[in-house]
Amino acid sequence: MDDLVAHLKALAEPTRLRIASLLARGELTVSELVQVLGQSQPRVSRHLKLLTDAGLVERQPEGAFVFYRLVSSGPGHRLANVIGEMSPPDDPVLKRDLDRLESVKSARAAAAEAYFQRAAEDWDKIRALHLSEHEVEAAMQDAAGSGPFDLMIDVGVGTGRILEVFADRVGEGVGVDVNHAMLNVARLNLERAGLSGASVRKADVSALPFDDGVADLVTVHQVLHYLDDPAVAIAECARVLKPGGVLLIADFAPHQLEFLKTDHAHRRLGFSDEEITDWVESAGLELRRRAALHPEEPENRLTVKIWAARRVPVRTEPGRARSREKSA
Ligand SMILES: C[S@@+](CC[C@H](N)C(=O)[O-])C[C@H]1O[C@@H](n2cnc3c(N)ncnc32)[C@H](O)[C@@H]1O
Repeated sequence: MDDLVAHLKALAEPTRLRIASLLARGELTVSELVQVLGQSQPRVSRHLKLLTDAGLVERQPEGAFVFYRLVSSGPGHRLANVIGEMSPPDDPVLKRDLDRLESVKSARAAAAEAYFQRAAEDWDKIRALHLSEHEVEAAMQDAAGSGPFDLMIDVGVGTGRILEVFADRVGEGVGVDVNHAMLNVARLNLERAGLSGASVRKADVSALPFDDGVADLVTVHQVLHYLDDPAVAIAECARVLKPGGVLLIADFAPHQLEFLKTDHAHRRLGFSDEEITDWVESAGLELRRRAALHPEEPENRLTVKIWAARRVPVRTEPGRARSREKSA
């Protein structure tokens, strides 16, 4: 009851209602809110602080930026969303806000698309060397199982594609990436796909911003070969998995394409089954499935591998020390 009163008090102010209505349409930075609301940054920050303190809004630092969004669950989430939806669409102030929001989002989309164009040229060259992505995605879905997965974490989210691929079997999907420009591409794509249960945040795979044992599914698609220490990344992914949760890795089998190192920043020329098995087992997971997707054309020389591992459930039996449950 106290929380509800605090929520209602925080929202009972015109600018804060406008902010709730805007954030119900997606996350925004302070400077984007300043542009839309036409108020000074200190005033907007003060309103945001009140909404954050009341548990209606959360802040997500991302390098030099801080993104604000409605909290993703609980009564504050429901209330702020309802308020956002109830805002009268013909109110002249709200109408102007929404028009300005469109311009802010178009500018963000243009910057994201320009960045992606540059990155995509690189990726297209690599994509041409292996089996179609749709086939890889279908094999990943098959290896993960049908779920449903309450929480999925996609590591190295890139364009957000893997969150889209799994959206129909996932409650909440969170993508992380080290690259701010890439995160804006993912934001744009997820919004365009209407995936309200998916969000992204800035983080390095070596320090994921999640508690232990929260995720049902962690995906790492074409990321491991960029890393200095893939074993550390796998251990960190295992840490955030629930017992019984699934880690899905898609990457290349060992290959000889040195130019991927020299021209495309790959650190590793693929991975053998033995090293992946070793790393997942050291992280407390058991390898459950693996698949090799060979290129169709002989001149294409990259085999994509998929490894699915499960975090071993721990069962405590009366009078016994904790033991590892035998896998089904
Ligand atoms: C080739 S893209 C793959 C993107 C996505 N997984 C997909 O398949 O569509 C690799 C992504 O990994 C991200 N990345 C690289 N190193 C990372 C790290 N240490 N932590 C998190 N993300 C990382 C890059 O910024 C890039 O977006």
